[in-house]
Amino acid sequence: MSSLEQTLSIIKPDAVERNLIEEIKQEFKKNNFTILKEKKIKLEKQEAEKFYKVHQTKPFYNDLCSYLSSGPIVVMVLESENAVLKNRELMGATDPTKAEEGTLRKKFGISIDKNSVHGSDSLENARIEIDFFFKD
Ligand code: CMP
Repeated sequence: MSSLEQTLSIIKPDAVERNLIEEIKQEFKKNNFTILKEKKIKLEKQEAEKFYKVHQTKPFYNDLCSYLSSGPIVVMVLESENAVLKNRELMGATDPTKAEEGTLRKKFGISIDKNSVHGSDSLENARIEIDFFFKD
């Protein structure tokens, strides 16, 4: 069964810094995602801490939040059939060295921290993450 879903995507500071925004957006479009909403922002560290709260007990939490707030990012709402899973497949494994050929993290990622893109990991988290950036 398929269903039209929305998921949150972030183009992280390493990819923005390397001018990969358009190339990554093309990948989403090529894979039949519609970019419903999009904005380029720079987070304060406190905001990154709030966004990544689910990881607050992890040893990499502080570095992760410093990193996400280190430069501009692009946040997007992507829509497609089964968007959450499809986006996770397109992104590939968290660690770019383990990501499959053709995935975004394999193509663009530098390291497990600088892995170029974030995507919601469940439909429930997609709703929470979309609200976090786009609640008006
Ligand atoms: P992301 O999908 O944005 O969600 C949490 C991020 O934590 C993840 O991508 C990685 O960039 C980062 N991270 C850093 N170290 C680790 C680790 N050991 N395991 C998982 N994620 C990590």
